[in-house]
Amino acid sequence: MEMHTDKSDRDRNTRKKVAYVAVLVLIIILISVIVASLVHRKILADSSGGDAPWHRPRLPTSLAPQHYRLELKPNLEDFVFTGTVEITLYCLEPTRYILLHVNLLNITANSVFLKKLRGESLTLEDWFLYPKNEFLVLKSKKSLETGRRYVIGMKFQGDLLGDMRGFYRGFYAANATHNDRRYLAVSQFAPMDARKAFPCFDEPVMKATFDVTLVHQSEYTALGNMPIRQSEVRSEGWVVDHYYTTLRMPTYLLAFVIADFSYKEDVTGVHGNVTIRVWARRNAVTAGEVDYALSVARRVMVYYENSFKISYPLPKLDIVAVPQMRVPAMENWGLVVSHENRLLYTPKLSPVWKKEEVASMIAHELAHMWFGNLVTPVWWGGVWLKEGLATWAAVMGVDAVQPTWRAKERYFAQSLHQILPVDSSKLSHPLQLTVTGQEDVTRVYDQLSYKKAL
Ligand SMILES: *[C@@H]1O[C@H](CO)[C@@H](O)[C@H](O)[C@H]1NC(C)=O
Ligand SMILES: *[C@@H]1O[C@H](CO)[C@@H](O)[C@H](O)[C@H]1NC(C)=O
Ligand SMILES: *[C@@H]1O[C@H](CO)[C@@H](O)[C@H](O)[C@H]1NC(C)=O
Ligand SMILES: [Zn+2]
Repeated sequence: MEMHTDKSDRDRNTRKKVAYVAVLVLIIILISVIVASLVHRKILADSSGGDAPWHRPRLPTSLAPQHYRLELKPNLEDFVFTGTVEITLYCLEPTRYILLHVNLLNITANSVFLKKLRGESLTLEDWFLYPKNEFLVLKSKKSLETGRRYVIGMKFQGDLLGDMRGFYRGFYAANATHNDRRYLAVSQFAPMDARKAFPCFDEPVMKATFDVTLVHQSEYTALGNMPIRQSEVRSEGWVVDHYYTTLRMPTYLLAFVIADFSYKEDVTGVHGNVTIRVWARRNAVTAGEVDYALSVARRVMVYYENSFKISYPLPKLDIVAVPQMRVPAMENWGLVVSHENRLLYTPKLSPVWKKEEVASMIAHELAHMWFGNLVTPVWWGGVWLKEGLATWAAVMGVDAVQPTWRAKERYFAQSLHQILPVDSSKLSHPLQLTVTGQEDVTRVYDQLSYKKAL
């Protein structure tokens, strides 16, 4: 205790100063903790639950796309594609935000615009990407008005990857005996990859018409959903193909193929006014490997037109066998794309079951021209409607072209008895599913959606 009673004034002063500093430091720490927690909360709120339209997984319903003008220029030497899109929108509710889908595309900075249809430009305050929901958001300075039509547009660029999604590249050996690799550009948009090829309202209910232009190197042939309206030569070996306007359709049914394939053709339809072509690698066509698919397609088309009493509404149908594809086949309207091992049939060499496989694929995809394309489930949860009906129609279609296979009787053994154990197991689920994102959609495409619905 001696030491305490013995303190000098100087000591006392020092202790006072230390106390002041300590209190000050404490206050500073307290303030910074409070500020930090506020900032932290703000970031959290912004990324996890704000009520801005881009935080919701589905597109707002304030704007409806009506028409697209789309030009794409894939380069099969450096595997980059460039494009321009203009979309006419109809405003259903006043809004300042225009949301659409984009994935893995670079938008050209100064190319984004908004204007009134046949009218003046409107100022865009800002545009930004919200990758979590694969959105591109345009913010208009003034609100868009109900009942008016507007046009948005932009230029963009993407990579032709070998990932079999969106607009992708495939390849094959043109000559098996020496290295002669050829490339092709092909699309697979279902269910949610059109947004990887061009900015769009990528939901099945958002139907619109499309004016497509494909710019390609002259050694390739380009195919779209519709026939070519006009073709012109652009500089240095580039050809520009303009296609007729499509019917109203969802983005997932749009398709493009740019390849140096050849084809065999025929006419079909009850009125004989639909041109049908089956395309594949040149040597496969020469070897007669597309002949069987062509003959099935021609007969199934007539059978469906007679059965459904609704004409196939397009003037042509192309069916293309591609070497790389993520799904066995895809029912793009007017441009069916199939994996080549589901389409090619080598006379005298392929086993007989291969014929059945080809016939089933063709009958299934052609059935979608009515069930899925003419009428479309509004959302992916209703996929069983189109898949179940196409599976059912395909049984009838195969039976019509080849009655000796007894497709209708064998359906019970091959489909029904296969699906009953699945349906009684833990794997079963209601046909109508709740779907919000890409992961859920993959779940919908299972055996139950195809076979139980039937
Ligand atoms: C897109 O932008 C990224 C980042 O700047 C770049 O690495 C990529 O090459 C671009 N892709 C295309 C196709 O322009
Ligand atoms: C494939 O290449 C070989 C060797 O170069 C050649 O003799 C043959 O004619 C080629 N076949 C075709 C179909 O081009
Ligand atoms: C084919 O002809 C029929 C009967 O004239 C017509 O109803 C149908 O629209 C035509 N189809 C096409 C694609 O022109
Ligand atoms: Zn299907």
